[in-house]
Amino acid sequence: MLYLVGLGLGDAKDITVKGLEAVRRCRRVYLEAYTSVLAVGKEALEEFYGKELILADREMVEQEADNLLKEADVCDVAFLVVGDPFGATTHSDLVLRAVKLGIPYKVIHNASIMNAVGCCGLQLYNFGETVSVVFWTDTWQPESFFDKIEKNRQNGMHTLCLLDIKVKEQSLENLMKGRKIYEPPRYMTVNQAAEQLLAIIQNRRLQGLKTDPMFQSGSLGLAEDLQGGMRREPDGASGRRLEERGVEQCSFSRSSKQDHKPAKGIKKDLKSGRDCKV
Ligand SMILES: C[S@@+](CC[C@H](N)C(=O)[O-])C[C@H]1O[C@@H](n2cnc3c(N)ncnc32)[C@H](O)[C@@H]1O
Repeated sequence: MLYLVGLGLGDAKDITVKGLEAVRRCRRVYLEAYTSVLAVGKEALEEFYGKELILADREMVEQEADNLLKEADVCDVAFLVVGDPFGATTHSDLVLRAVKLGIPYKVIHNASIMNAVGCCGLQLYNFGETVSVVFWTDTWQPESFFDKIEKNRQNGMHTLCLLDIKVKEQSLENLMKGRKIYEPPRYMTVNQAAEQLLAIIQNRRLQGLKTDPMFQSGSLGLAEDLQGGMRREPDGASGRRLEERGVEQCSFSRSSKQDHKPAKGIKKDLKSGRDCKV
């Protein structure tokens, strides 16, 4: 049996009872470690689950999936995913392969970033298309996520912006030369996302294109991630520069004492969800 087990978004204890039971009876347990971030490391999970975990990076999941599924028809194998196994990036490819190989599978769901975003006070029913804000490079600066945010706003919808995570990625040069040298992990900060959004607004203004009135007023509300610590903004120049440029940030910390409560000092227009202040 292949078990796809959601780990939730907090720490080792966020796994469900059903998920933990499955993990404990599996012969091999893989931890998907490239699309999401958990507040605790592999060792803390191993200690709580009482099980050794095999880190599964993108290469292993995408190129060596058959190894991962080896013998799953005669023994139990678990594939652990932070959040929900089918939240945002789906691991449906793995399921399709399992089905093709005649391996039975079970999904054990958990909280996902897709619904935990409700903690910011905005109604989940009123979210439009989710976007991924990807890291720009010198030669690749897509703007499609901005169009989707605008479209959502035109339809009166909020947008969940998933900020890019780059774990164990090769530089373009290393990729082209086939060198297995990996860049250090990077997690897009709220400031970096705002910088990119502001650059797009600026580009469009220069081209004489209209943007949503919210963007024209120069006010941009951004919520930090749900995982205290992962994307704390440094009090550096970048943060100040954004504030000077009219970007307001709000943060929602997820400390053990304040689970799901906005950090102190945040004011938010719950109806429009537009204004927030720390
Ligand atoms: C493919 S989605 C992950 C979905 C995950 N399986 C879930 O159900 O929540 C990946 C994106 O989710 C966001 N994300 C992942 N882990 C997060 C966390 N702990 N806190 C906030 N955002 C997170 C990041 O923007 C990341 O690029």
